[in-house]
Amino acid sequence: MPNVVVIGAQWGDEGKGKFVDLLTLQADVVVRFQGGNNAGHTVVVGGKKTILHLIPSGILHPGKACVIGNGVVVDPEVLAEEIAELKASGSLQQDDQLVLSLDAHVIMPWHKALDIAREHRAGAGKIGTTGRGIGPTYEDKVARRGLRIRDLLDDQRFARKVKERLASAREELARLGASLDVEEPALLKKYAELGRVLAPYAKDASLWLHHAMKAGKSLLFEGAQGTLLDVDHGTYPFVTSSNTVAGNAACGSGVGPTALHRVIGISKAYSTRVGSGPYPSELKDETGEKLRAVGAEFGATTGRPRRTGWIDVLALRYAVRVNGLDGVAITKLDVLTGFPEVKIATGYRCGNRTFDEMPSDLETLEKCEAVYESMPGWTEKLGGVRRWEDLPRNARTYLERIAQLIGVKIVAVSVGAERDETVVLENLFQKAHA
Ligand code: IMP
Repeated sequence: MPNVVVIGAQWGDEGKGKFVDLLTLQADVVVRFQGGNNAGHTVVVGGKKTILHLIPSGILHPGKACVIGNGVVVDPEVLAEEIAELKASGSLQQDDQLVLSLDAHVIMPWHKALDIAREHRAGAGKIGTTGRGIGPTYEDKVARRGLRIRDLLDDQRFARKVKERLASAREELARLGASLDVEEPALLKKYAELGRVLAPYAKDASLWLHHAMKAGKSLLFEGAQGTLLDVDHGTYPFVTSSNTVAGNAACGSGVGPTALHRVIGISKAYSTRVGSGPYPSELKDETGEKLRAVGAEFGATTGRPRRTGWIDVLALRYAVRVNGLDGVAITKLDVLTGFPEVKIATGYRCGNRTFDEMPSDLETLEKCEAVYESMPGWTEKLGGVRRWEDLPRNARTYLERIAQLIGVKIVAVSVGAERDETVVLENLFQKAHA
């Protein structure tokens, strides 16, 4: 059976959660492979809104399994809370619905404290992180001194590793003028309890996925954040600390790259960004305000107002390239209803230079201004539209132009937050199977 990877094609918050939720109807297993609770996926089903930070939104479908892969960094407190909330609301009724990789790294209290203290110290130069300890946890992973879920399940080993790391973390925090308000015995007790809550789910996720594929199950890989936030391919250093691109779906879950059959990018019909960093099509005017207000562009994790702008085909073309996208789903098209004109960034101007591909140099990108193509807008409400031909003429022209400019077809268009408020143009799982 085919496996599909869903990736954010912009700066995150593209509405991946809704598409993953929709595609889960056809998949058997949903897999997260990077990031942590810096992500926040909002899914609305039957008017009920659920925000998930770690567990894939596929968990809301009874009978589907969800995997948190080795590439994810896990805050055990947050995961335990999500499990409890899901159980209380009638989801996750069977333990075998959730698989937590034994090799996923654990976000510890010092990681969160370091994240916040460093951002505070950086002042105007800050990254604008979510403050969830994501970066410091990945740092410890790469420095080969991280704690993994398998350590959390072994009280003695966990105590030894905490002791080894805690002293140096306290020293580093002190240098930043911060401290950790927890003593070692209390910390060990708390994490031992969390370990017991998570133990029923902890498995060799790679092996589990291998068996699932052997049994003919189809996998849906759910990316978090977006392509331009990738630690290698994003607007470094204004990025998150993991690889958000499609290739990491294999690495971060323990399947081979040949198991990734289709890669779909999700893009808003406009664009947004949270945190610092270059954003050539940003609108700092009334139009940007209107996009923020109509699109309810406030972070699902931090509540921060998102920066807003027109859609940027240079960024999308770049996402097509580094992810190998073979389809794009456009979200929140309904938000553009009522704008007298809609614009597409088709190039950048930087002094007397022009670009039609994203410049790889950050300093150049920071100085770039977008050059736009403008098109007439539409006034029709789109919530009830389910077929391509029922979209307003101008909306279709707008989407067709985007598809032409990025050279990839549009496979679905979202016209509202509800699962069924979607125009589906291609059955991804069927196509991949052919
Ligand atoms: P971190 O991932 O918390 O280290 O934050 C690094 C950068 O990624 C900041 O600019 C964040 O705003 C951004 N970021 C992290 N997670 C998300 C997300 O899920 N959506 C959008 N931006 C994110």
